[in-house]
Amino acid sequence: MTTANEIAELRARALAEIVAVTSDDTLQAWRVKYLGRRGLVSEASRGLGSLPPESRREVGQAVNAAMQALNAAFEQRKAALEQAAAEAGGALDVTLPGRPVALGQVHPTTRALRDILQVFDSLGFRVVEGPEVEWDRYNFELLNIPADHPARDMWDTYWIDDPVNPGKMLLRTHTSPNQARVMERTEPPVRVVVPGRCYRYEAVDATHETMFYQVEGLAVDVGVTMADLKGTLTAFAQALFGAERRVLFYCSYFPFVEPGVEVAIDCFKCKGEGCRLCKFTGWIEIMGAGMVHPKVLADVGYDPSTYSGFAFGLGPERVALLKYGIDDIRLFYANDLRFLRQVK
Ligand code: PHE
Repeated sequence: MTTANEIAELRARALAEIVAVTSDDTLQAWRVKYLGRRGLVSEASRGLGSLPPESRREVGQAVNAAMQALNAAFEQRKAALEQAAAEAGGALDVTLPGRPVALGQVHPTTRALRDILQVFDSLGFRVVEGPEVEWDRYNFELLNIPADHPARDMWDTYWIDDPVNPGKMLLRTHTSPNQARVMERTEPPVRVVVPGRCYRYEAVDATHETMFYQVEGLAVDVGVTMADLKGTLTAFAQALFGAERRVLFYCSYFPFVEPGVEVAIDCFKCKGEGCRLCKFTGWIEIMGAGMVHPKVLADVGYDPSTYSGFAFGLGPERVALLKYGIDDIRLFYANDLRFLRQVK
C-alpha cells in the first residue's frame, strides 16, 4: 500500500508531465494515465480500507488533494490548448454577429438639470455652485430666519455634530444659502443659477427623499420688479413645458422673499381638465419664488433702497417626474439599471 509521501510524489510527477503536453491526444492520454478509472491515482488509493485508521485518514486526504489538483491542471491545460488553437486561426468565425456595445446614458436628474440650466443660460444667468455642508448662518440667519424662528420648521434639518462648532453646521436644506454667498462676494448686477444637492430629514415616500437636488435662481439689479420675475419664470416654464403653457403665480410664504409666490403651470397632460398628475386642480406647482427681502439685501451689504431682485428655487427631480412621466422620486437614487435605462 501507498504512503502519503508517495501520493505527493505521484502528484508532482503528473504536474511536471502535463507541462509538456501540447496536443489534445497527449492530454487525453495523460488523463487516462493519472485520473482514469484504472489510472495511477485510483491504483494508489486501492487498499485504503485496509490501512490502520490513523494513516487511512492521512493517505485519503492526500489522494483527494491530488485528485483535485490534477483535475484543475487538466482543465487549465485544456483551456490553454483551445485558446492556442483559436489564436492559431481557423476558429474565428467572422460571420458571427458582433457583440453589442452597451451605451451609457445620462441620469434622469442630470438630464433635467441640463435642460433647466440651458434655459437659464439662454436668459443670461451664470451657473455657480456652493457647499453642501453649510453654516446655519447661510442656510438660515442670512435668509431672515433667526434662531428660534418658527419658519425653521419648514426645513427638517440634518445637523452636523461638530464639537468645535456645536449647533452651527448642517447639511443645506435648500440651495438658497447661495443667495447670500453670491451677493457677499459680488457687486450687483447679479444673475446666477445654483444647482446642487440638498438634504432634509424627511419620511421618505413617493414625493419626498432625504437627498434631492434644487436649482436656485437669483437676479439683483437696480429696478428689478415682480414683472421681471413673472416674465423670466414664464419664459422658463414655456421653454421647458411647451410654448402654450399658462403660468399661475399665487401668494406663498418664505421668510427671505416678500412678496413670496408659488409658481404653477396649467396641466400639460389634461390641459386643465383635471387629472391625477395635477391632482384634479388643473395646475401643477413647479417652484417657489419671490422678491428678495430687503433684510436679506441689507445683511449682505446691498442697499435695499437702490437694489431689488427676485429669487426662485425649483426641484429638477420634480421636473423629471413631470416631463418623463415618472411616478416615484425614490426611483431616482435606488440605482436600479432597469429604471435608469428606461428613461430616455
Ligand atoms: N428655498 C425654498 C425652499 O426650498 C424655495 C425658494 C427659493 C423660495 C427662492 C423662494 C425663493 O423651499
